[in-house]
Amino acid sequence: MAQLPEADPLIHDLLAQEVARQNDGLELIASENFVSRPVMQAMGSPLTNKYAEGLPGKRYYGGCQVVDQVENIARDRAKRLFGCDWVNVQPHSGANANASIYLTLMRPGDTFLGLDLAHGGHLTHGSPVNFSGILYKAEYYGVDKDGPLAGRIDMNKVREKAKAIRPRMISIGASAYARDFDYAAFRDIADEVGAFLWMDMAHTAGLIAAGVLNDPMPHCHIVSTTTHKTLRGPRAGMLLIGKDGENTLGKVAPKSGRVKNWSELFDSSVFPGMQGGPLMHVIAAKAVAFEEALQDDFKAYAKQVVLNAQVMADAFTERGYQVVSGGTDNHLALIDLRSKGITGKEAEEALQAADITVNKNMVPYDDQSPFVTSGIRVGTPAMTTRGLGPDEFREIVDLMDRVITNPSDETVLQHVKGAIHEMTARFPLYDFVTA
Ligand SMILES: Cc1ncc(COP(=O)(O)O)c(C=O)c1O
Repeated sequence: MAQLPEADPLIHDLLAQEVARQNDGLELIASENFVSRPVMQAMGSPLTNKYAEGLPGKRYYGGCQVVDQVENIARDRAKRLFGCDWVNVQPHSGANANASIYLTLMRPGDTFLGLDLAHGGHLTHGSPVNFSGILYKAEYYGVDKDGPLAGRIDMNKVREKAKAIRPRMISIGASAYARDFDYAAFRDIADEVGAFLWMDMAHTAGLIAAGVLNDPMPHCHIVSTTTHKTLRGPRAGMLLIGKDGENTLGKVAPKSGRVKNWSELFDSSVFPGMQGGPLMHVIAAKAVAFEEALQDDFKAYAKQVVLNAQVMADAFTERGYQVVSGGTDNHLALIDLRSKGITGKEAEEALQAADITVNKNMVPYDDQSPFVTSGIRVGTPAMTTRGLGPDEFREIVDLMDRVITNPSDETVLQHVKGAIHEMTARFPLYDFVTA
């Protein structure tokens, strides 16, 4: 068996370049994290060779006696982690997990209510260029422009909107919303209008698992997630149900006429509804990551992620930046750059030149296009994994401020880049190229 460097030097060299980029730079993309070596080892294993359509004990392929055990362990650990009745660990990604939810609960043309993409929502919550906005009728709630709830969701407005449009489903969850959600209030509204309630906790799953954010599980009919953001597992998705029970859609088992449980409907929507064979190597990596997340040091990590984000938000505010909603409850902060006379795109590019990776982001009521934007989103999960604490995050905001206020000053950019490399060298990451 040849090794990658000899077998494919071109790809090996690019992997080495990417590992160096991750090692040397400052990763502030809120949806990214650094997985452990054991997670990578499970991902880079011969389990990638195995077809295992179906569920453990009910496969359409032979030879599944080992991967069945792997998937059962992943399921059991996820159930313990989130205190829920049922999970499906097969979705290849967050978007796939979400698609299985629409397939189960919605009929094409049905109306649903979700957080506006321009106010922090996700593409799969009704964007016109995504299947969710193409096949279903998307309506939105947003955040307040000003007043005491500026940058936050006003539950009275969600209720008014839900009563006006009577959606079949209400979605919660976001890609760029720094505040926690009031799940009980969402459930009241859903019950009032007869809607299903879905939480997409892709961004915050790790913080929810660690108990540092509110728990959606008792309040939502269905919960979806990615496993690679704050949860710090492999790139993939998952579905969860807090309390399983008989479905109310009238779906019965064909032969016996038994009313199926919700979990059975969602299992079928993942496979064969949305996907073919599960990625068993990724499911093994999920199992490893869930075990890591069950440990006490993961809880300490999650607390530190939030503390570091709050330190960043405060440091930006002290420097005269507008932080959307005035701060953060979670792992990210949304910075409105309009008072600094620079767009999100310009800031992202200047920061990149200093090896600081952030993403430009629309701010609520933005007057720029999504390609330009007026803001940046900063997140702490990845650098907190490396061990950075409040002192470093304060220094980072100082360095970012220097770049944002001098975006074309080559001397400033080079000086900041040097300071970043010096900082990242103190918090080593990967000393290998392949797992
Ligand atoms: C809230 C939310 N849902 C779903 C997704 C989609 O996840 P994936 O990229 O794994 O398809 C994301 C990814 O950014 C997200 O932020």
